[in-house]
Amino acid sequence: MIFNCKSVEETQDLARKLARNINPGTTISLIGDLGAGKTTFTKGFARQMGIKDHVTSPTFKLISEYQGEKYKLNHIDAYRMNGSEDFLNIGGEEYLLSKNSITIIEWGDLLNDILPSKTIRVNFARIKSPKESRKIEISGIKFV
Ligand SMILES: Nc1ncnc2c1ncn2[C@@H]1O[C@H](COP(=O)(O)OP(=O)(O)OP(=O)(O)O)[C@@H](O)[C@H]1O
Ligand SMILES: [Mg+2]
Repeated sequence: MIFNCKSVEETQDLARKLARNINPGTTISLIGDLGAGKTTFTKGFARQMGIKDHVTSPTFKLISEYQGEKYKLNHIDAYRMNGSEDFLNIGGEEYLLSKNSITIIEWGDLLNDILPSKTIRVNFARIKSPKESRKIEISGIKFV
C-alpha cells in the first residue's frame, strides 16, 4: 500500500490508522533516510495507543518504553547500533518476542536478519515537490 502524505498531520493520521489495525505482539520496521519522518510517524502511532508522554527520538537512549491505554509501545532506534549483534546484546530479543506490546524500530532495515517474518515494514521517501510530502509504503498488512 502506497500513500502520499503531504504534511506532518497526514503522516500522523496514516500512523494512527495503522495503529488501529495492529495487534499486540507485532514488530514494525521503519525504513528511510535521516529526517524522512520515522519519529514523526511514531508520534502519531503513540497518540493513537493512548500514550500521553512526549515521544522523542530514541537515538541516544536506543530504546524507550511507553505505556499505552491497552498495550506497551517499545520505540527502538537501530541507527547507532552496529547491526543485530548490538541489538541482541542490549536485550533486544525480548522486545521481538513480547506478546503484549508493540515494537517500532527506526532504521529497522539494519536488523533485517533477526526481525520476525511477519514484521510490518514502512518505507519513507521524500518527494521533491511539494517539499513537505512523503511517499510512505506499508507492506505486511492490509487495511482500509
Ligand atoms: N509529510 C511529512 N511527514 C513527516 N515529516 C515531515 C513531513 N513534512 C515535513 N516533515 C518534517 O520532516 C522532519 C522529519 O523528522 P523525523 O525526526 O520524523 O525523521 P526521522 O526519519 O525520524 O529521522 P532520523 O533518522 O534522524 O531519526 C520533521 O522535522 C517534520 O516536521
Ligand atoms: Mg527518528
